This record gives sequence, structure tokens and C-alpha cells, in this order.
Amino acid sequence: MRHLVHRFFGFLIARPLTPREQMAVTSTLPAPLHGLFYAQASEDQRHAFDVASRVGDRPDLVIAALMHDVGKSVTRLGAVSRSAATAWGWTGLPVWGRWRTYLRHGSIGAALLADAGAPTLAVTFAERHPGPVPTGIDADDWWLLAAADEA
Ligand SMILES: [Fe+2]
Repeated sequence: MRHLVHRFFGFLIARPLTPREQMAVTSTLPAPLHGLFYAQASEDQRHAFDVASRVGDRPDLVIAALMHDVGKSVTRLGAVSRSAATAWGWTGLPVWGRWRTYLRHGSIGAALLADAGAPTLAVTFAERHPGPVPTGIDADDWWLLAAADEA
């Protein structure tokens, strides 16, 4: 819940990446991922950039951080609708339309990343976060990414 509130207000006050930050992203991501990153809303680009700034310098961690919410770009929901969809999802009641798509952003993002040839850690973190460490993923890497996302 704290994460949801934090993300809600973070979304509202997010400022677009500066040209310098965009250059850092472009020079870090493999070229096939550029389009997916910049297809995100500017607020999501900011969140991803901030998460990446907390994981150190290892390229696989930085790429996973930059791309972890890329599936949200498919629905283009605003802050209020995102929060409402998430809260609705907690009820377990049926959900349709863009809210349904939004609640599946993890698997949608993972599929987009896999198609673009993203590293395994990026695909897996996009699909399975937040959640326990999947088989085959280093636990320290996983929890570092998770903590950076929740910060
Ligand atoms: Fe996130």
C-alpha cells in the first residue's frame, strides 16, 4: 500500500528526463530496447530512471531497472486509474478492458522484452515483480531490484 501511495504521488510530480538523462539511457540500453523505453509515459521513464539509479553500475541490473514497468505503456492509464485498477485487482473481482490489461502489465512487458531480445533478468523482473525470487535468478540481484523499485 505504501508503494502504491508513493507511486501515485511520484507519478503526479514526475518531471520528464533531461536530454542528458536520455543520453545516459540510450547509451546504456541495447538498441532494440530504445523504442520500448521511450514508448513509456514520461512519468514511467522517470520512475525507471530513478530505480536504475539505485542499483549500481552492472548493466544487467540497470537494464532490468529501466525496463521493469514497460508493459504499462500498452494501456496509457493515468495515476488515478492505475491506483483504482490496482486496488480493484486486490479484491479478486472480475476486471475488464484497460484495467485488465493494466493488471497484466508484467506479463505483457515480459513478452515485449523477450521479443526484443532483452536479457533474462530484465524479462523475468518485468514479469514477476513484486514477488519472491524466481528459480534461476540470483536472490541478491532480485532483492536489490525490488528494493530500488519500492524506494
Ligand atoms: Fe516500478
